[in-house]
Amino acid sequence: MSSELVIHVTGARPNFPKAAPVIRALGARGVAQELVHTGQHYDDAMAKVFFRQLALPQPDVDLGVGSGSHARQTAAIMTGLEELFLARRPALVVVYGDVNSTVGAAIVAAKLGIAIAHVEAGLRSFDRTMPEEINRVVTDQLADLLFATSPDALTHLGNEGVRAGKVHFVGNPMIDTLLANLDRFDADQARRDHGLNGDYVVATLHRPSNVDDPDDAAELVKAMHSVADIAEVVVPLHPRGRARLEAAGLFSHDRLRVIDPLGYVEFLGLVRGANAVVTDSGGVQEETTILGVPCLTLRANTERPVTITHGTNRLVTRAELGFVASQVLSAGRAADWPVPPLWDGRAGERIAEVIEAYVHGKGAAGEGRD
Ligand code: UD1
Ligand code: UDP
Repeated sequence: MSSELVIHVTGARPNFPKAAPVIRALGARGVAQELVHTGQHYDDAMAKVFFRQLALPQPDVDLGVGSGSHARQTAAIMTGLEELFLARRPALVVVYGDVNSTVGAAIVAAKLGIAIAHVEAGLRSFDRTMPEEINRVVTDQLADLLFATSPDALTHLGNEGVRAGKVHFVGNPMIDTLLANLDRFDADQARRDHGLNGDYVVATLHRPSNVDDPDDAAELVKAMHSVADIAEVVVPLHPRGRARLEAAGLFSHDRLRVIDPLGYVEFLGLVRGANAVVTDSGGVQEETTILGVPCLTLRANTERPVTITHGTNRLVTRAELGFVASQVLSAGRAADWPVPPLWDGRAGERIAEVIEAYVHGKGAAGEGRD
């Protein structure tokens, strides 16, 4: 392939803070690149606000695929990208994280013989009931360059037979974005904006295991109300579960406020000043780890165990949430905590260095396509 064009594919909210530092670093190196947004997420607060706040270039193409079942959404992503990749003939397609846009782009590129870079490779929850786990495993099998954010990812990829020469331990580009914007996260402003005076907890909830089934939603609401019994709770709610959680009574506690999803800067301002965060988000487990905010993850497992061993995260069940939250609020924040290796704000630069060498045909020996 003679082209040196790099195409980045983004689609959902967590993709944007991962892509921004990679795009910036490649731009500084003068690498030719284009940005495709699949449109998997499309609300202003779920997508467009990130382009404004993170100084991402406007997408060269927006496929506008929108919502749908897994098969329909992934098929729309694949159909749109196939046409685009055939026309643009990139040397490399860069995909981020574990969403349907990630795996859709990887399958299309692989079948067209286009090389794939996967940013955030090798994370594993070993829980195949999560669609993201399937997306991770498939994407990593197809990728030619695999950028890992934590050491456990290297082990998982090795166990799955991925050749070590394709894997690069680079740190975490989502944390690059966090550190680059730290001065903009204004906890005092967030308190004023949300009328918060005392202790408060921020919650984000969108996993199918918490919000899709009415019984799970009812249990979740009970758990969240038990937190609201001890502190103010602000829930910038992902659209996925809104109707079901409202039907289950989430909005009916006078110390729990449900609001629309927040912009990245406003959200992390609110998180920065919180006494604790309750979440089922992947990215939020990582961001709280760096901000030093206790994170209670309402999941049975995590693909990000490094945020437990090196951060502020712990897994909790819905049944124990109220009790654990009261313990965490009494204990207060730790004065000091370990930080995962290479989460230092320079991952985008490391990734760009490898990508530039690859597209210029200077990849290190053993990094070619299988
Ligand atoms: C997706 C990812 C998930 C990620 C999450 C981040 C997959 C399989 N899942 O889940 O890994 O953690 O994004 O937020 O890719 N909706 C809107 N407006 C939008 C986007 C979605 O109203 O801009 C609503 C629609 O009702 C849609 C639902 O949210 O059906 C779910 O959206 P979808 O992208 O399918 O999955 P997420 O739950 O957002
Ligand atoms: N986020 C945001 N506004 C919100 C909630 C989250 O900007 O109201 C950001 C959060 O800081 C992180 C990203 O969205 O950067 C995480 O996305 P999400 O939780 O949707 O996906 P996941 O990481 O679980 O795949």
